Amino acid sequence: MFYNKVYIKTWGCQMNEYDSLKIADLINEKIDCTIIKTADTANILILNTCSIREKAQEKLFHQLGRWKYLKQNNPEIIICVGGCVATQEGERIFYRAHYVDIIFGPQTLHRLPQMIYNVRTFKKKLIDISFPQIEKFNYFPIRKTNAISAFITIIEGCNKYCTYCIVPYTRGKEISRPYKDIILEIQQLTQQGVKEIHLLGQNVNAYKYIDKNNYICTFAKLLSMIAKINGIYRIRYTTSHPKDFSDDLINVYNKIPQLVNFIHLPVQSGSDKILSLMKRRYSINEYKHILEKIKNIRPHMQISSDFIVGFPGETTEDINKTITLILDMDIDMSYSFIYSSRPGTPASKMLDTIDMKEKKQRLYLIQYHINKQTKKFSAKMLNTIQTILVEGIAPQNNQYFFGRTENNRTVFFKSTKDCIGKIVNIKINHFYLYTLYGNLVSIHQNN
Ligand code: 5AD
Ligand code: SF4
Repeated sequence: MFYNKVYIKTWGCQMNEYDSLKIADLINEKIDCTIIKTADTANILILNTCSIREKAQEKLFHQLGRWKYLKQNNPEIIICVGGCVATQEGERIFYRAHYVDIIFGPQTLHRLPQMIYNVRTFKKKLIDISFPQIEKFNYFPIRKTNAISAFITIIEGCNKYCTYCIVPYTRGKEISRPYKDIILEIQQLTQQGVKEIHLLGQNVNAYKYIDKNNYICTFAKLLSMIAKINGIYRIRYTTSHPKDFSDDLINVYNKIPQLVNFIHLPVQSGSDKILSLMKRRYSINEYKHILEKIKNIRPHMQISSDFIVGFPGETTEDINKTITLILDMDIDMSYSFIYSSRPGTPASKMLDTIDMKEKKQRLYLIQYHINKQTKKFSAKMLNTIQTILVEGIAPQNNQYFFGRTENNRTVFFKSTKDCIGKIVNIKINHFYLYTLYGNLVSIHQNN
């Protein structure tokens, strides 16, 4: 009999982090094992990959090369490759890295424990990168957590097919989870002390579930249901798409106080020409109009975004339009990336004439403006009282507690009372780019 020590390495977005948590839960439930934090002594190695940007394939084989040596010393080791690169590369992984035992996709991760068992028993390699309809969620065990904030996936895949993006090919078509399952999972989390729910999906606001009575649950309706669950102090979500930002969704900001004053709404570019080449399905005016409507309801709403620079055909005029948009719409902390050609996407066939040096300069320029904006918003918070949901004791200094502001800044403060899981008021006395320090003013009564 084997005693299994399992190491899981995760690349990529919050969806992948969530998937890895689920892999750990499943393996813990089905296999006699311990999940460990380093690869050296593990006998099951799992790599959960991401292919959204950069040289995902090279990175994969580089990592596998390191694990190959571990397997040479211990042939009983089982190496599993999952996630988006697994779907994209499929069997080719076996050809280039013959020591890999299992290839699984983002939608088949619930089958991993059985695959591991079969590999051990029958000594045969296995691959399953199919897209069974939302099946995996039915297999996840009840989540055990002592966290204050928890992620929960509500929708998988994407139907938008932006021309640069590989997600629709690796994660499959959009499928919304039944709202009853989502509510149940959140109730289980709140009963364990979770106070903040962070809804996840490639495109959360495309959420739409039609039940057997033909009741249509939209994202706006789902938010209203979640807000009614006892013990929910805050609701966040990522990522949303401007095209699906309906008036219904905007109007729930009137009704649901737990929705934070912070929305991540990626625009990608400030130029209509580039948006059209990206097939983003909205114009800059439409994007601005959405933000205006949101700010009419919530004047203190802060917006963050994603930007891609160096998309094929982008000129300096286009990048200047992006900078103008950041300043005009007063966009807060954002992510920015150099365009990376992804295999099989329509943009990979477009003529890309911008050299890397120029792309890097554009990225530098845009990040300069984004950082200035981030600093401006953080500086504005100095000497103000901020509402924080306390998440724990600071990992580096146990005299401090930490939590986050609505606009996603981490705040550190001292307190003699245990206030984990509570909403507190903090007067900010020091700021860095993303981090603030302050003094405890009060602990909210309704905690
Ligand atoms: N190149 C660069 N950035 C990309 N993103 C998605 N695909 C690519 C690509 N091919 C970025 C987008 C998206 C974020 C998650 O990743 O900005 O919003
Ligand atoms: Fe990719 Fe566009 Fe879908 Fe986002 S909306 S996951 S960028 S295809």
